Formats: sequence, C-alpha cells, structure tokens
Amino acid sequence: MNEVVKQLLLDLGLQQSVHYSKVAFDVRDSSDVPDFKRRWVKSPVDASSLGAVDDSSPEDVQAAIRDAASAFSVWRLVPPPERGDLLRQLAAELKEKKSLVGSLVSWECGKSLQEGLGEVQEMIDICYFAQGLSRSIHGVTLPSERRHHRIMEQYHPLGVVGVISAFNFPVAVWSWNLALALVCGNTLVWKPPEKTPLCALACQCILDRLIYNNGYAPGLSLLVTGGAAQGKLLAQDKRIALLSATGSVKMGVSVAGIVAARLGKTLLELGGNNAVIISPKADISGVLPGIVFGAVGTAGQRCTSTRRLIVHESVISEVRNTLKTLYARLRIGNPLDESNQVGPLIDYNAVGQYLETIRDAFSEGAKIIVEGGIVRLSHNSSDCYVKPCVLEIDARAKIVKKETFAPILFLMSYSSLEEAVAIQNGVPQGLSSSIMTTDLGEAEYFLGVEGSDCGIANVNTGTSGAEIGGAFGGEKETGGGRESGSDAWKAYMRRQTSTIHSGSSFSLAQGIRFDV
Ligand code: UN1
Repeated sequence: MNEVVKQLLLDLGLQQSVHYSKVAFDVRDSSDVPDFKRRWVKSPVDASSLGAVDDSSPEDVQAAIRDAASAFSVWRLVPPPERGDLLRQLAAELKEKKSLVGSLVSWECGKSLQEGLGEVQEMIDICYFAQGLSRSIHGVTLPSERRHHRIMEQYHPLGVVGVISAFNFPVAVWSWNLALALVCGNTLVWKPPEKTPLCALACQCILDRLIYNNGYAPGLSLLVTGGAAQGKLLAQDKRIALLSATGSVKMGVSVAGIVAARLGKTLLELGGNNAVIISPKADISGVLPGIVFGAVGTAGQRCTSTRRLIVHESVISEVRNTLKTLYARLRIGNPLDESNQVGPLIDYNAVGQYLETIRDAFSEGAKIIVEGGIVRLSHNSSDCYVKPCVLEIDARAKIVKKETFAPILFLMSYSSLEEAVAIQNGVPQGLSSSIMTTDLGEAEYFLGVEGSDCGIANVNTGTSGAEIGGAFGGEKETGGGRESGSDAWKAYMRRQTSTIHSGSSFSLAQGIRFDV
C-alpha cells in the first residue's frame, strides 16, 4: 500500500464511499462478477498499490441517472450567475489544493508533476471561464419579414449530461464538461477511466462538499465507476441527453452507435495523429524544444501529442542533429521528481504497444535517429518506463497512419508545402497540427481552406498544450466534437427559435394569403 498516496487521498477528503462508488484502501478481497468487479489501482510510477475501487453495479448507474434527472428539474431554474458562483468556489478550492491534486494525478497516471499541476490549473481556468460565461450565455434577435414580428433564438439546458473520460487527463477533461454543463443548467453523471479512478473520486469529493455547503441536491453531479459496461449503460439510457466521450476511436464508434440509435446527442473527442511541419523558413533552434515537449510530454500519451514531424529536405539534417542533442538531455524517471521530464507509460500493456509500433516501423524500413527501448530504473520503480524515440520513415508507411499512445516521433521529409500539407492531412485522424515558419504566406496557406484539415492548426507553437479559451476538438476520426472554450457551451444546450408577434393583424410568412 502506498502510504504517501493514502495520505493524499485522506487529505483530499476521500471517504470509503462516494455516492454509488465504493473505495477500499486496505481490504484485499475481490468479487467474481466479470464486468462489475473490484479493481485494484496500481501506480505506474513504482507499481505500488494505491487502493481499490468497486465498479458501480447496473442498479447504481440507474440510480445515479435517476438522481441527476431529478436534480435537473431544480438546477435548471437556478439563475446562471448563481450556477457560475458554484464554479468560482470550485476554482478556489482547487487553487488551495493544487499541489495535493497535482501530485495525486502524477502518482496515478504517471505524468510529470509539472504537468499534473498544469492539469489542475486547466481545471481552475475552465471554472473561471464558466463563471464568466454565466453572465454572457446569449442568443440572437433576427429581423422578421413581417411587420410587428420579431425572431429570437434562445438556449435552454439539455438535461443530464453523461461524461466518459480518459486516463491521460484524468480530471481536466471532466472539468471542461462539468463547468460548461453545470453553468448551462444541466446535471452530470461522470464515468472516469478504470485506470485512474482515485483522482476522479478525490475531485468528486471536493465538489460534493461544495454542493452540500451550498444546499444543492447531490444529484447535481455524480460519479459512477467501472469500464466499458458502465459506459454502455450511460450510452443506452434515454435520460442522458448528451454523452460527451473522450478516448479511443473504437470506444467512440461504439458509444456513438448506441446513442445515435436512440437519437441522442454525442460530443466526441477521440484519437489524434498530430503533425508539425518544419519549413526551411522556420527558426529551427527556437521551435524544436516546443516540438520535443509535444512528442514526449505525458510520455506521448496526450491526444494532442506530436507523432509526426514533416521536415523540408533542405533542413532535415539540421533537425536530425538538434533532435539528437535535445533527446539526449531528457531525463526519464519518477515523475514526482521535478528534475525528470518523462515519466512512465500508464501500464505494461502500453509498453507492449510501444514496442510493437517500433517493430512495425522497422518492418516498413524505419531508421533510428534516437533509439527507443525499455528503461530499467531502480528496484522500486515500475516496468512502464520507456525511452522517447525518433524514427525516420517514408511518409507513405502504414504505421504512421496509426495513433500509438507512446513517445514515438516519426520524422519524414518533404519538398513542397503542398506535399507537406498532403502528408499532414493524409491520416484518418484530425485533431491538432502546426507549421513552424516565419513566412506569412506559408502560415496563411496552412491555415487556409487548402491547408490543415484539423480542428486545431497552430503557427510557430506545438500541437499539444492548448489553452482552455479556444474550442478544443477535431475532425474525421477525432469525432467532430468541441469542448472547453469559445462557443463550445452551445453543445450543452438546446436551441429554441421563437417568432413573436406583437401587432393586431394576422399575417403569414412567404406572402401566403389565407382569408377566412
Ligand atoms: C487530451 O489529451 O485529451 O492541449 C486533452 C492539450 C491539453 C488537453 C489535452 N490542454 O494538450
């Protein structure tokens, strides 16, 4: 049992049971029900046991949805600025507990402490954003073709929002959904990933106390635990008006099919296969550190991680050399030690996928620029640490079309900008992309209609590490959803168009006459 993490959980107020989910810190028993079981959580940092979380039963999931639906009938009538104030309070709590939550995130999912703290900051930022939104959610008024008529659009809350989130951002992606869903007047049922339930439960506890202190019903925002079976229950349930799902394309296809069959709404943020184009006009030494962060941050397990580097043939040898120098400086090890930049992969299965992708790349002729492999650290580390690697490969190789959640960067060359953009767009995913150039014409081409086909297209900054202020999401197999900033809130509301007649004589649109 990891005593440091146990203390973190207790300091964050995590009790044995949180609504419909049960947590055990010391008990060593397991139930045998295949899909609804007790799961032990092991830290990827040092393989220590962090505790156990029981899956919510089907009855628990139903009860959570029922409670959220009944809380909705009250919450939707609370004035939006009052809803926003709850999020302001959550931001303040998270600010105070930033170091506890950030450390817990690092322990449970293995990202560096800096990135764990960054994840908490992302939560704080979206809560304040939503508070601002609480006074600016707005519709439009449009001209009517008839005298004494007015057309207006307004937004109403949807109902219960289901959230399925992924291990790589175990709490921030929930907070994006939570902040927008709540401020828009919805209630929530969240299923965090089975690999990182403890930081989810701890954050749920922080929110629970605020809900209680403010006198709102607990059903305002609930959490259920488990895996695909529980996710499927959320997808199937007609009371879930919107299902927001972040994770693999496979998961997205499955839940989207189930929700579509009942004509419900989905918001999908799925795979990414993000590329950076380096033009001959780039400031290479200035931009490469950011590119390396994109490739190795969160050990290459962000959906925005940089997986492909498309470099002009005239500068590729300079890029190869600079990459070798920068990768040689990377420190791999315990992510809680701030001198390390690269922590472990989430589990041994992920290590297997990393090795398999490298093997597949070799079978398609890849050449090593920076060698990969498993890293053996001291006896009290896990076996999930791997070396970030760079492999040079033909842009047409099959392996580069695939997303592998690992720090593998594929390097490829191009000769014309049109070719570079075709390579960049020639994958099934469409989340994030960047061009590094000081040439305005090149930058504008990349951002124009013939340019990047991704939901995120950056200039002189990397593919990962988006701020919350913009809408976040992507096209093609990434699923098309937009979360976080800008007008992403609209996905959490239903739009109503109203025509209001204030005159006394009846008239029809389109000049239709109807005399009775
Ligand atoms: C994700 O990987 O699912 O842009 C989210 C980023 C983070 C969010 C990533 N702000 O890398």
